[in-house]
Amino acid sequence: MPLLLGVNIDHVATLRQARYARTPDSPNAEPSPLDAGRDALCGGADSLTIHVRSDRRHMQDADAFRIRREIPLPLNFEMGVTEEMVGIALRLKPDFACLVPETREELTTEGGLDVSGGFAKIHDAVDRLQDAGIKVSLFIDPDLPQIDAAARTGAAMIELHTGCFANAAGDEVAREISRLAEAARAAHAAGLQVNAGHGINYHNLTQLWSVPHLVELNIGHSVVSRAIRTGMTAAVREMKSLMATYPG
Ligand code: PXP
Repeated sequence: MPLLLGVNIDHVATLRQARYARTPDSPNAEPSPLDAGRDALCGGADSLTIHVRSDRRHMQDADAFRIRREIPLPLNFEMGVTEEMVGIALRLKPDFACLVPETREELTTEGGLDVSGGFAKIHDAVDRLQDAGIKVSLFIDPDLPQIDAAARTGAAMIELHTGCFANAAGDEVAREISRLAEAARAAHAAGLQVNAGHGINYHNLTQLWSVPHLVELNIGHSVVSRAIRTGMTAAVREMKSLMATYPG
């Protein structure tokens, strides 16, 4: 089974909001996340990821519904564990929902979800989403207690937070890779699908090849950055061709 690529197109909306925060639906508002999603599809993306944050700093609700309606790719809806977001997810009906921690100050999703700490609330959200046919993933740090707690919620998948790996230097890189590998083995043994994401780019990607059981990588910043130079279709195609070398 080839490694799947979920393209996170939030940053396209970030750029649009930089100029059109008050009028994201204006005919002048660009760039269009919808067009970016279509181009990602042409480049071979296996799914699209969007995150409607509670502060609506990039994707707007209307973007989510338009992308869901118009782009024939599986949709992964990243969401904070709030009543508001569960309600939106139940109306949007994405294929997947990835539960993430969310605080107002952070630049992007900075740490994994504390599944053990927020167990009852997360378990309840997982139940409600999965009962509606939405397959749920929990974005967690590569820590064994979190994996154990994730499995106990009944979620189908985890997304391992690769941010520490991406920021590591020198000897830390090997240490972070072995943490990820150990976490992937434990999650797979617990019956969870193993995805990964955050900070993965065209250069560090193949260092992840010693992490077993990976099914899907979610990549945003690096693909969108490359797309500024090459266009989204070419950027996605290049990432997909690098990913084809994953040994499985
Ligand atoms: N996965 C999750 C859960 C995220 O929050 C993000 C960042 O929005 C990503 C993957 C993608 O990270 P990056 O933009 O660094 O590729």
